[in-house]
Amino acid sequence: MEIFRTIKSIRSMLDGARLQGKKVGFVPTMGNLHQGHIELIKLAQKTSDIIVCSIFVNGLQFGLHEDWDKYPRTFQADCEKLQAVSCDVLFYPDENQMYPNGLGSQTRVICSSMTEYLCGASRPGHFEGVTTVVSKLLNIIQPDKMILGKKDYQQLAILHRMVEDLCFPVNIVEADIHRETDGLAMSSRNSYLTILERHNAGQLHKSLRWVADKIRLGDRNFTALEKEAIRQIHEAGFKPDYISVCNSKTLEMAETNDADITVLGAMYGSSARLIDNISLN
Ligand code: PAJ
Repeated sequence: MEIFRTIKSIRSMLDGARLQGKKVGFVPTMGNLHQGHIELIKLAQKTSDIIVCSIFVNGLQFGLHEDWDKYPRTFQADCEKLQAVSCDVLFYPDENQMYPNGLGSQTRVICSSMTEYLCGASRPGHFEGVTTVVSKLLNIIQPDKMILGKKDYQQLAILHRMVEDLCFPVNIVEADIHRETDGLAMSSRNSYLTILERHNAGQLHKSLRWVADKIRLGDRNFTALEKEAIRQIHEAGFKPDYISVCNSKTLEMAETNDADITVLGAMYGSSARLIDNISLN
């Protein structure tokens, strides 16, 4: 695997690859790679000739009191995992490459829909940081395909919208959520959980499944279902942020006759915020 640390060097290599007719698949990450990330690489390999993974812990998408400084940075282990799955290229820029003029004066990409509610409500500015850095990465890598996980469902929906609105010439490929055996969605932030919290953390998925099953059986009292799921999460020792039955495309509250529904949820442990979702279609 070749590692590139500068925009100039990776651009020149990819220009050469494109001249040879190679299709580029791109998997953006913040590192601390787990099997969920690796599955994205494998999916990319099915449809592209050259796979680029990026690792950049993007300060712009973290709030002032969030975990940017303690976010797990595990470069060596990440490289070994990428090598084991035969990833071709790693783009590993530093802060200076990505934000040479500083975070404060960075030009920003703001998506005006879907960013204010759900995770956007508890993490103001988060999605602006995501759309800005992904725009930059797309301009640097210019991939044919970008592979994103459904685990971050709102992020995925917003990036679909951004790519459409700003005419980025890239196809987004969606990867299913990769889970631990108790249903907990794999996440770099799971390592923040205490032993007891980890033991009970499958509850988020369980409660989302409970809501999804009820809806499948015809229950359309979404507010009551959300309320009960929140109670279950509370009882398992976590602080619920939201459980929301949403329209899968707009992420607005689902109408009772909506056919395409996704149930999304977020909860806090003592030092971790976990998210998950289930689509019903
Ligand atoms: P990160 O959290 O590292 O996730 C990188 C990609 O892996 C995202 O597309 C995410 O949805 C996917 N992913 C993470 N856990 C997953 C799981 N359990 N199953 C399937 N896919 C999973 O998301 C980000 O980084 C950043 O916001 C980024 C897009 C890189 C911009 O900074």
